[in-house]
Amino acid sequence: MAFPPQFLDELRARITLSDVVGRKVTWDRRKSNASKGDFWAPCPFHQEKTASFHADDRKGFYYCFGCQAKGDAITFVKEIENLTFPEAVERLAAEAGLEVPRSREDPAQAARRDRLTRLADVMEAAVGAYRLAFRSGAGQGARDYAARRGLSAETLSRFEIGYAPGARQHLTAQFREKGLLEEAVEAGLLIRPDDGGAPYDRFRDRLMFPIRDPRGRCIAFGGRALSPEARAKYLNSPETPLFHKGRTLYHHGPAREAAGKAGQLVVAEGYMDVIALAAAGIGQSVAPLGTAITEDQLQLLWRIQPEPIVALDGDKAGLRAAHRLIDLALPHLGPGRSLQFCLLPQGQDPDDLIRAQGAGAMRGLLDEALPLIEMLWRREVDMHPLDTPERRGAFTQRLAKAAAAIPDQVVRRFYEDGFRGRAKDLFWRLDRPKPAAKGAGGQGPRRRGAPEGPKADTRRSSLVMGEAPAAAARRRREATILLIALRNVDAARPLAGALEVMPVTTAIFEPLRDALASALLGDNASEPADLTPLEADPVARAHPLAVAGADPERVALVLTEAIARHEALTGHEAELAEAAASFAEADGEDWTWRLRQAGQTRHALDAAALRAEEDAEATDRPSPIADMIKRHSTPDP
Ligand code: UTP
Ligand code: MN
Repeated sequence: MAFPPQFLDELRARITLSDVVGRKVTWDRRKSNASKGDFWAPCPFHQEKTASFHADDRKGFYYCFGCQAKGDAITFVKEIENLTFPEAVERLAAEAGLEVPRSREDPAQAARRDRLTRLADVMEAAVGAYRLAFRSGAGQGARDYAARRGLSAETLSRFEIGYAPGARQHLTAQFREKGLLEEAVEAGLLIRPDDGGAPYDRFRDRLMFPIRDPRGRCIAFGGRALSPEARAKYLNSPETPLFHKGRTLYHHGPAREAAGKAGQLVVAEGYMDVIALAAAGIGQSVAPLGTAITEDQLQLLWRIQPEPIVALDGDKAGLRAAHRLIDLALPHLGPGRSLQFCLLPQGQDPDDLIRAQGAGAMRGLLDEALPLIEMLWRREVDMHPLDTPERRGAFTQRLAKAAAAIPDQVVRRFYEDGFRGRAKDLFWRLDRPKPAAKGAGGQGPRRRGAPEGPKADTRRSSLVMGEAPAAAARRRREATILLIALRNVDAARPLAGALEVMPVTTAIFEPLRDALASALLGDNASEPADLTPLEADPVARAHPLAVAGADPERVALVLTEAIARHEALTGHEAELAEAAASFAEADGEDWTWRLRQAGQTRHALDAAALRAEEDAEATDRPSPIADMIKRHSTPDP
C-alpha cells in the first residue's frame, strides 16, 4: 500500500528521531548536545565501542560514520525491528496517535475488517481461558506433561502455553454466556455439527499453543494431545477468515525480530522444536503448521532472511521434505537468495537434539548447514549408480533440468558450472583403476596409532602452528571412515588390514574401531556398536556412503582413498610435531631447515585438505592432492 506523501511528512514531523532511536541506544552524553538536537551513540547496526552513530533531530536523519547506516525514523524502525516499510509506518503512526489513511476502503471492506477484529478478540479470550485452565486444578496433567518435556515457567509464559480441558463444553459455555457463540464457531474454536446440534469445544485435553500473525494477533491454535491414545497427536485450527495455514509461520513475529539481530533464521518442523530452539537461545526460529512448506511460506521466510536454514527431522521423511523443498525453491532462487540445510542425527528433531546434547550442539550443526546446491548434488548422486554411460547421461540430465529451473541467469550459470565440474571430478574418480587395498595383505592386526596420545600431540605441535583445526580435521576424517565402514561392513571387509592399522587418535572413537574390527572378523555375537559419537560429526553423517547398503564398489574405493589420505596427513602431523619438539631442545641449523620444510609441506597439505575435506569426503570428489600427499608422507617404518 502506498501512503500519501503528506501523511508521511506529517508522521515524520510528529515523531522525534532521538526518541525513537533512544529506545535502542545509550547516548554518549559527553559527545551529544541535546539542546541542538545533536545526538551521538555507539551504532546499533554494527559492533563498536566508540560513538560513531549520529542522529540529527532537526534534519530527522541519522548517519553512522562507522558502517554508513543512514535514514530517517521510519528507516530506523524498519531496520532495527526487521519490519517492512508499511509495518514500520503503522507502528510509528500508532505511537504518534496518527490514523493511517486507508484511502480506497469501501464499506464492505470496513465491515470485513470489523468482523476480523471481533474474531481476533474471541481468539484472544481463548488464549486467556486456556492459560487459566492450565493453572487450574484441571490443568495438573498438562503441567506434569510440560514439566516432563522440560518447559520452564519462563518458556510457558513466553509461548503463552495453555490447556484445553477434556470437557466438551469448557469454552463453549464461556462463549455462550458472552453471546459470542457465532464468532467462536467461525474462529474455529468450537465445532457446530452439520446436523444442527449444539456446538462443542474443538480442542479437548490438549496442550495449547497460540499461533500469532506477525502483527501479534492470535489467529489460530495448535493443540498437542496429552493422551497417547488421542486420534491425532497435533490438532490445528481449521482455515478461518483469520487463519490460512499455508501462509502462516509459527513464531513469525518474534523470530523476525531475533533474525534481524542474529543474521540467521531457522526453519524447524514443529511447535516443540521452535520452542526448544527459543529456550536454547535460538529465538530466530519458525515452523510451518503441520504441512510441507508452501511457496507462500517460502516467500515469507525470504522476507525475513535471505538464506534461511532448514532444520528438518533426521529421518527419511525429513530428507524427503528437504528434497521437495529444493524443487519448490529452485524457481525462486536469485542473487543472495537461497536456502541452507541443517542435517540432524538419525531419528532426532531439534527438540530431541537440544535435550540430549545441549544448545551448543544445535548451534554447531546450524553453523555447518549445507548450501542448497550441495543438498541437491547429494540427492542426485545418491539416487542411482553412476556406472554406465546411460546412467551418467540420465544423471547429467537431471542436474541440467534442476539448474534450468532457476530463472536468474547468473545464479543458473553458477549452478551449471558447479555441476559440470563436480560431475567431471566424480566420473574421473569412479573410473580410475582401483588401488590395491593397502595393508590388506596379511600384515596381521598390528596397530599403529599416532605416536603420541592426542593430548601430548596437541601440546607439542602447537609450538609450530595452531593445532586445533588440524585435530578437528583429523577427528572428522576418522569419523567419516569409521561410519562408512561400520554401516557397510561387508563392503569394507577387503580393507580390513588397512582399517586395523589406521591411526585413530580420537579417544572416544577407539571402541568403535574395536567394534569394527570384530565386525570385520564376522564376530556376530558382539553388540551392535553405538554410532552416536561418529554421527555427531555433521560431515561424516551426511556422507552419501554413510548409510547402510551403499554401493560396495564405491565404498571400497572411497575408503581406500580416505584411509590413505588420513594416514598421510596424520603421519605428517606427527613428524611436524616431532620436529617442533626437537627444535625446542636443539636449536641447530638443520632443525630450522627441517621445520621450515615441514611447515611448508604442511601448509600446502592444509590448504588442499581444507578444500578436499568438506568437498571430497562428502561428495567423492577426486583428491588432486593424493599424489602430493604420497610424496610427502612419512615412509612406513
Ligand atoms: P512431529 O510428529 O515431528 O512432532 O510433527 P514433534 O514436533 O516432534 O512433536 P512432539 O515432540 O512429538 O510433541 C511435527 C509437526 O507436524 C504437525 C505439527 O505441527 C507438529 O508440530 N503435526 C504432527 C500435525 O499437525 N498433526 C499430527 O498428528 C502430527
Ligand atoms: Mn519432537
